[in-house]
Amino acid sequence: MFEKATRLMRAIVATAPEGENILRHMRFDAPDSCLILACAKGAPLSVLYWGAALPLGVDGADLERLSERQGMHGVADMSLPLSLAMEPGLGHPMFHGFAAHRAGKDWGSVFAVAKVEPRDHGAKVICRDERTRLGLEYEIDFDGCSGVLRIRSTLTNYGATPLDLNDMMTACLPVPDIMTDIIGFTGRWTQEFTQGRVARNAATYLRENRSGRTSHFSYPAILLATANTHESAGEAYGFHLAFSGNHRLRVDSLTDGRVLTSLGALLLPGEVRLAPGESYASPQIVAAYSDSGLSALSRKFHESVRTKLLRPETRAKPRPVHYNTWEAVYFDHDINKLKELATRAAQIGVERFVLDDGWFGGRRHDQAGLGDWTVSRDVYPDGLGPLVDHVTGLGMEFGLWFEPEMVSPDSDLFRAHPDWVLGLEGVEHVPFRSQLALDISRPEVADYLFHAIDAMLRDHDISYIKWDNNRDLSHPGGQDGTARAFAQVQALYTLLDRVRSAHPQVEIESCSSGGARADMGVLAHSDRVWTSDSNDALDRQVIQRGASFFLPLEVLGCHIGPAKCHVTGRRLSMEMRAATAFMGHMGLELNLLTERAADLDMLKNAIDLHKKHRALLHTGDLYRLDSAPQLIASGVVARDKSEAIYSLAYVASDAKVLPGRLKFDGLDPERQYRLQLIWPTNWQAVKGPSAIETLNLTGKGAIFSGAALMHNGLQLPHAYPETCLLFHVAAI
Ligand code: GLA
Repeated sequence: MFEKATRLMRAIVATAPEGENILRHMRFDAPDSCLILACAKGAPLSVLYWGAALPLGVDGADLERLSERQGMHGVADMSLPLSLAMEPGLGHPMFHGFAAHRAGKDWGSVFAVAKVEPRDHGAKVICRDERTRLGLEYEIDFDGCSGVLRIRSTLTNYGATPLDLNDMMTACLPVPDIMTDIIGFTGRWTQEFTQGRVARNAATYLRENRSGRTSHFSYPAILLATANTHESAGEAYGFHLAFSGNHRLRVDSLTDGRVLTSLGALLLPGEVRLAPGESYASPQIVAAYSDSGLSALSRKFHESVRTKLLRPETRAKPRPVHYNTWEAVYFDHDINKLKELATRAAQIGVERFVLDDGWFGGRRHDQAGLGDWTVSRDVYPDGLGPLVDHVTGLGMEFGLWFEPEMVSPDSDLFRAHPDWVLGLEGVEHVPFRSQLALDISRPEVADYLFHAIDAMLRDHDISYIKWDNNRDLSHPGGQDGTARAFAQVQALYTLLDRVRSAHPQVEIESCSSGGARADMGVLAHSDRVWTSDSNDALDRQVIQRGASFFLPLEVLGCHIGPAKCHVTGRRLSMEMRAATAFMGHMGLELNLLTERAADLDMLKNAIDLHKKHRALLHTGDLYRLDSAPQLIASGVVARDKSEAIYSLAYVASDAKVLPGRLKFDGLDPERQYRLQLIWPTNWQAVKGPSAIETLNLTGKGAIFSGAALMHNGLQLPHAYPETCLLFHVAAI
């Protein structure tokens, strides 16, 4: 899609009335989509059109005329305008996207466009309300290749008295009413990114997160689709709030038939009070439209993450295969055993060794030690140096776990600074993994944490931080009694950036009890996310698929866990576990000292295979494939369509004798491709010969046209459930 995207965004002065030097419309084009904003001076800023590409000649004024709406009995005599803010002064009876006041007054703002400043790929639109003395600025960016729309809004108090901001959606964006389906992503610990598709009805779909982190239960994103939209066809809109804290996501089906999707930070009472001249900057919405299915929508989000969020140096470097110690040793840190694990990891091809929780202070269990970020002499009498040297001496990078925002009541830090924690005076802390959250918006707390991390990074050859966060902010009150949840997220981003700028060569992984902080907000300040604490490959197939709606494979940490999963108790073969972790940023998280030799060999083969293909997996276009529920299938196709990898997991028994066909979506129909099965390397037909044998797919493979592979597809073999096949397709 993006190869063809050479057309640059054009901001067009559409229909400025003669003699008036102002824009009435701004139009932005990408190859498959178009956005037209109504931005006439003195009127609300609103979306006039956002959808499929329009020919150049189509005029905004025509669209306005075609969109004329009448008043009706029982409602206002005129159709009320929509705006990006949906502020109360517009008079809408159902939904407002903005709520603020000055000591009870000035609550009824109406924002009108005051100035439009066109930019290279968008515009800054400045709206004002002179009555309530507020300014609302929108920074709008529309990517002329991918069509990804990014919006941020900033409210400024121009009045002489403080303004209390209760609620402000970053933007309220209309979608056509044929978008009858809402797809949200919920879940829990070890079940992140669970998709839920519900029918939109004449009411509000509302999701609120008050956990103080991105959360497991409410991923900050929504998709709207037609009833017929699926992975490879149909219209859809996607919205992501790039923010790692409290949020509100809603879809309002107004009684007048219009539909609005709104996303914003959820502000706690009193949390944002603007003194005269002060501003509040909202988190950014990242949104996209697709006329060719949900996978195409995801590819746009992936492109946006790759080009706007990830650091060029991270992108340029092959993603190192990880070994993470957590599920191998938990808190049982023994330097000799860790060295042995490192040696074995290096032997099978691991490139980065990450020492997880348990290396510091009194952290011999999860009841103590958080906050004391110095090496525990109980377990490392000579410090971490010998282990770091051993790891780097084996040619691997060394990574280290921190949970900077938290403190254990049983820690030197808490004993010295009990007042540094968030809480509410007179209210018991909600118990949560025996830890409390620090108020990192306080400069002395942030300084302490920065210096502690900085010292570890300066004293050791550390290339990677796993930055964890393992509790909700149930009572995020500061010392002065004000709510600090929003400030906490801003302080997190500032602290991450401070560490990054002091140590630009260090990569940072965002983890939060698995995948509770895996959003585009944190990815502007980090390099990878930990997708889930479940390493159960069957669950992971679903979790990783859910995460792939927004995030590209190279940022998704995917580990091969123990044969018997510690979370589900389920036993899965090494073949299945390895193939599942293959489709992401691959790592291992199991005790290599107790693995069977045959499994270690297989692990080494899987790592070799991943290394061989990771450049493709981590830069290519993802095609999730539609399939029967017993199968989960996706492919990654090179941007030039010269090769592709397809993963096909059999996740349940099938009532049919044979599964259906695998259609290799995304190839070039005109080219010839060699098809091979590259995993498992020990494939055995259940009752052969299947197409795998007759076509010699485990050997030299077979050659077919892209069109045949895409449209006819391959008749899949019968395979046992909990099998995952990887196919390689290479143009000849
Ligand atoms: C969280 C993380 C795990 C691990 C533990 C350590 O649960 O998600 O990967 O790091 O903390 O306590």
